[in-house]
Amino acid sequence: MQFLLLQSLFPFLLIASFLSINVELSLCQNDQQFTNCSSELNCGSVGGISYPFWGENRASYCGQPGFEIQCLDNVPVFNMKGVSYRILQMNTTTNSWTVKVARNDYWGSICNPTFVNTTLNFSLFDYVSTYTNMTFYYQCPTTITLPNIQSCNTSSVFYLTRSMTSVNCTYEVIVPVYTTAALAIEAGQTTRITDAVDGGFSLQLQIDNDQCDKCLGSGGQCGFNTSTNSGFSCFCADQAYASTCYGTSNSRDKQLKLKLGLVGAAFVVVVLVVVCCFFWNKRIQKHQIVEAFLRSHGPLEVQRHSYSEVKKMTNSFKEKLGQGGYGAVYKGKLKDGRLVAVKVLTKLKGDGEEFINEVAAISRTSHVNIVSLLGYCFECSKRALIYEFMPNGSLEKFIFNASNPKNDHHHLGWETLDQISLGIARGLEYLHRGCNTRILHFDIKPHNILLNEKFTPKISDFGLAKICNRNESIVSMLGARGTAGYIAPELFSRNFGKVSHKSDVYSYGMMLSEIVGGRRNIDTEVENTSEIYFPHWIYQRLKRDEELGLQSVTNEEDKVRARKMIIVSLWCIQTDPSNRPAMKEVIDMLEGSVDSLQIPPKPYLSSPPKSPADSSTTLVSIQ
Ligand SMILES: *[C@@H]1O[C@H](CO)[C@@H](O)[C@H](O)[C@H]1NC(C)=O
Ligand SMILES: *[C@@H]1O[C@H](CO)[C@@H](O)[C@H](O)[C@H]1NC(C)=O
Ligand SMILES: *[C@@H]1O[C@H](CO)[C@@H](O)[C@H](O)[C@H]1NC(C)=O
Ligand SMILES: *[C@@H]1O[C@H](CO)[C@@H](O)[C@H](O)[C@H]1NC(C)=O
Ligand SMILES: *[C@@H]1O[C@H](CO)[C@@H](O)[C@H](O)[C@H]1NC(C)=O
Ligand SMILES: *[C@@H]1O[C@H](CO)[C@@H](O)[C@H](O)[C@H]1NC(C)=O
Ligand SMILES: *[C@@H]1O[C@H](CO)[C@@H](O)[C@H](O)[C@H]1NC(C)=O
Ligand SMILES: *[C@@H]1O[C@H](CO)[C@@H](O)[C@H](O)[C@H]1NC(C)=O
Repeated sequence: MQFLLLQSLFPFLLIASFLSINVELSLCQNDQQFTNCSSELNCGSVGGISYPFWGENRASYCGQPGFEIQCLDNVPVFNMKGVSYRILQMNTTTNSWTVKVARNDYWGSICNPTFVNTTLNFSLFDYVSTYTNMTFYYQCPTTITLPNIQSCNTSSVFYLTRSMTSVNCTYEVIVPVYTTAALAIEAGQTTRITDAVDGGFSLQLQIDNDQCDKCLGSGGQCGFNTSTNSGFSCFCADQAYASTCYGTSNSRDKQLKLKLGLVGAAFVVVVLVVVCCFFWNKRIQKHQIVEAFLRSHGPLEVQRHSYSEVKKMTNSFKEKLGQGGYGAVYKGKLKDGRLVAVKVLTKLKGDGEEFINEVAAISRTSHVNIVSLLGYCFECSKRALIYEFMPNGSLEKFIFNASNPKNDHHHLGWETLDQISLGIARGLEYLHRGCNTRILHFDIKPHNILLNEKFTPKISDFGLAKICNRNESIVSMLGARGTAGYIAPELFSRNFGKVSHKSDVYSYGMMLSEIVGGRRNIDTEVENTSEIYFPHWIYQRLKRDEELGLQSVTNEEDKVRARKMIIVSLWCIQTDPSNRPAMKEVIDMLEGSVDSLQIPPKPYLSSPPKSPADSSTTLVSIQ
């Protein structure tokens, strides 16, 4: 036992000697507020709820007043001015943070509302311009004639997309819906008013997200503290600061005193180190695993950087490129002038499995269609990955144009789209092929495909990847992984088949059909999701040999390209994994002639489930 302890102590001491006293402090004193606010609120299908929201497992200081969430029957709900709202979706990927909400009392039925208008507390939320007020009239005189009627048990309800002054009904309730939904009702396209209401509407959070981004970028967690001027606190691993973990803090004196005290009592430090080591042993072992991986498998260029170097190269996290579930990505510059994208992992999930995964998986690869890792940083809770910079960002922004659906999304042109599809297929095939090990990505989606200046696609984000020995036949996997809309059915239920490289093929197929359609296969913003399930629609057309009606198809060549991509995507999303082609065959199909392609059998066509089923351990086989 003692030997084990010593053995595990040794690497720690070695590393400790490289770390500053500050870092050791953060190792030893894990601030309770930091720990508490590091945990996200997960409720039903909405996950990753964090600042400014709090409630359930997040203490009140982890958010701002007025943003309290309760998880009721697996639905995140908050109250505003006496009305309860359910959160359908969160969006913190852009500069203005938004939530999609729907009135809870109107959920599923418009018959039993609380007769209260939807009024916002504008110091918390504001509308996003894409909404229209619906007005519902209850208990009206029986002689009244208004266009849209639905009968409830007690009386009828009339609904209009504008309010009328000349009606004498007992109640008049205003409920916002998306303008697209309101227009559909006006045009008589949607008969189910509940679909429109349940579709909800978007609200913009009225908080200083810039302030929070900076705190997150410095490795902290955003929170609330009445004793600071702004009502904002940045909780860091060691203590709370006013804005960032390395920034100005009124408790600098305290830190200085602590430092002096430590210098005076080196012995105490040693004791602390021993104690810390005992508790942090596991984490350090993980650290060693990463190091060992890099030493034995990594490309030579992968360099280790200290946190202060990372800070310097990103100019104190000045320019944010994007945001994901793991944290944020910042633009940076290496000493030699190369531009890089720095992915800072702020959410401390488990013992950093995603970080290890990503470093381990990606450092084994070297392919033109896979993003290259140039460096990394691993200091206690501070983890960052340094990638080559991709000037054109993610594929997502080129194929979806949510703000203006009329915009021609195919400005890339079909030839480029074709090349991109082929490039991704080659990258994926490379991952699956492997000599000794194969890598399953498990999170193929447009967001994770990056484009360089020549629009060469590169697969990124290996946080969910799984590395398997080529001759390994059984691996254990915890739960379903991936992103709703791209997850293969066998990841939800083993009844559909075994989890294998074919699961990536499925995600690839879903993505391909989105590339062709220029829209999300599952768009929760519009009406009933199953009605606009794009692969379903396109399959019918293909089968009946109808005009495909796709945008920007100007010549015969484009037509052939689009048709080929559609057929390939339909093959890839076959429900039975054994019916799906391997990536090698996908490449052959994309490169071959369209005439040699057969129309696939009809895939199991309904909206796939939106969230992974229970996350019990399942044994899966990699063929
Ligand atoms: C955070 O604090 C709240 C309230 O003090 C507590 O209920 C919750 O369990 C804590 N969560 C974690 C993850 O420590
Ligand atoms: C709006 O929210 C703020 C913050 O929670 C609160 O102080 C204020 O009383 C609210 N206003 C109304 C009218 O409810
Ligand atoms: C978040 O909002 C941006 C801009 O409004 C949009 O482009 C993006 O698709 C949204 N993401 C999600 C997951 O809704
Ligand atoms: C809702 O607002 C409308 C128009 O401002 C008003 O006429 C109506 O009485 C309000 N309804 C309730 C229940 O307060
Ligand atoms: C919708 O109604 C609210 C009051 O309930 C009002 O503040 C808002 O301006 C209205 N919006 C539009 C677009 O009419
Ligand atoms: C109407 O009343 C019947 C029986 O009284 C009940 O089963 C049904 O759920 C009610 N419908 C609504 C919309 O309240
Ligand atoms: C509404 O009620 C008022 C008074 O009760 C009456 O004068 C008016 O004619 C009514 N309007 C309609 C449209 O029924
Ligand atoms: C608020 O911040 C001050 C100074 O940063 C700190 O002393 C105090 O404990 C904090 N209070 C809470 C409730 O976080």
